[in-house]
Amino acid sequence: MSAMKELEVEVEGLAPGEMKAFRWGEISVLVCNVDGEFYAVENRCSHADIPLDTGSLRGCELECVSHGAVFDVRSGRALELPGRSSLGVFSVERTGNVLRIGPLRKAEKP
Ligand code: FES
Repeated sequence: MSAMKELEVEVEGLAPGEMKAFRWGEISVLVCNVDGEFYAVENRCSHADIPLDTGSLRGCELECVSHGAVFDVRSGRALELPGRSSLGVFSVERTGNVLRIGPLRKAEKP
């Protein structure tokens, strides 16, 4: 994990149903806009470490493009196999179009 305590990102133009990856030190954070609410999860599928930003977001469900694992971006919970475990989720505070992200919260059990 990065030594930085927070990551600030600009989300202007990130519309509902869209997502965008941001680097935070050595990790990648995936910010998802779910009907105007922003969530941030680890950008790494728990099946085979593939980045999730190339997948698809439908509502709160994020599907990995590789083999179809599905995760709930609100909780990180794995909803469909082959997602092996939940994703880590980050706390998010929003001020206008700026999100303050961090720290990583423990993922829920699948
Ligand atoms: S790498 Fe994501 S489902 Fe296989």
